[in-house]
Amino acid sequence: EKQGFKHFMLKEIYEQPGVVRACLEAYLNDQWEQEELKIQNSKFKTQNSPIRLNLPADFYTDLQQIQIVACGTSWHAALVGKYLLEQLAEIPTQVQYASEFRYAPSPLTPNTLTIGVTQSGETADTLAALEMEIRRRQALAIDYQPRLLGITNRPESSLGDLIPNIIDTHAGIEIGVAATKTFSAQLVAFYLLAIDLAYHRNTLAIDQLEKLLNGLRQLPAEIEMILESQERYIEELAHNFAETQDFIFLGRGINFPIALEGALKLKEISYIHAEGYPAGEMKHGPIALLDAKVPVVTIAMPGTVFEKVLSNAQEARARDAQLIGITPMDEKDAEDTFDTLIPVPHVDEILSPLVTVIPLQLLAYHIAARRGLDVDQPRNLAKSVTVE
Ligand code: F6R
Repeated sequence: EKQGFKHFMLKEIYEQPGVVRACLEAYLNDQWEQEELKIQNSKFKTQNSPIRLNLPADFYTDLQQIQIVACGTSWHAALVGKYLLEQLAEIPTQVQYASEFRYAPSPLTPNTLTIGVTQSGETADTLAALEMEIRRRQALAIDYQPRLLGITNRPESSLGDLIPNIIDTHAGIEIGVAATKTFSAQLVAFYLLAIDLAYHRNTLAIDQLEKLLNGLRQLPAEIEMILESQERYIEELAHNFAETQDFIFLGRGINFPIALEGALKLKEISYIHAEGYPAGEMKHGPIALLDAKVPVVTIAMPGTVFEKVLSNAQEARARDAQLIGITPMDEKDAEDTFDTLIPVPHVDEILSPLVTVIPLQLLAYHIAARRGLDVDQPRNLAKSVTVE
């Protein structure tokens, strides 16, 4: 069943190019460019999104806000989702831990879309937060009616029973307790949703849209390239950290949630203490933790925050920390900054989370495997958390 892989987690990491491809194929409208041209020529504007999510038309009317509830890795996917929904579709978006939202819900606002993200569709806190939101909205006037969307890998779950509108992430069953391929698939779902909303709200120019769609289609090959070229190297690198006690992960902008995800993967399967921070926050306290014994893994992708991230990493160098950079090849400034590079392909910053998360999953996996731990069944963790 593991098809020659030592653990399900590694097998599932390797399934990611196929999973991203499957999720895109399920929802991309391949005829869109031709149809769009026809429409431009005939001057008719119809609803002709490049994405086919099959959501009801009233999803798109007067949408003013989005709130997302989730736990754990799904919460990290939601943070990337917030970035995309705000930057591409220009919709104010809040992300809440389901377990917090239940006891301190945001004030109700009209025309709000609530999204629940749960790969298993069974996480008790996420389901309870959504049920509460449905009840409180139903008790109010018409424009407070719940607009609901579920993002899940299991449409046949309790989430599927609760919410009629579902984006199925098509990742296939995930056996390793640490979420990997289901996370990537959730990210794809958020790209598709944000592009669809951006299309309907007219917040993206056609050439930007085309660039994004082409970039998305290339992601499976980029992920494959990392798996092929970096896995052995990361496995060797992992040997250096078998005794390490603390790790810091840094990222900014759309890669801040990926720093959180890298830290979570490492702590849950290797039991090494790890923290993810927005790189700019280091100097406001956490930098005091650093010394030569604490490796700092920094995600540095060219774009809006590249130079800033590099200078944040240099602040850590002043503390003798060992600096590991997840960064594209042939970036001179990055090469000068980091002690160790894990090169990733050059991709647009906005698409980079699906690329930058891969080496972090491999790093966590190989450190845990090196320590001889039960990677697929880490202590104290269950695949779906059905207690509150
Ligand atoms: C991390 C992990 C957990 C889950 C969390 C939510 O690798 O697996 O943090 O992400 O328990 O699970 P779902 O997505 O099933 O609601």
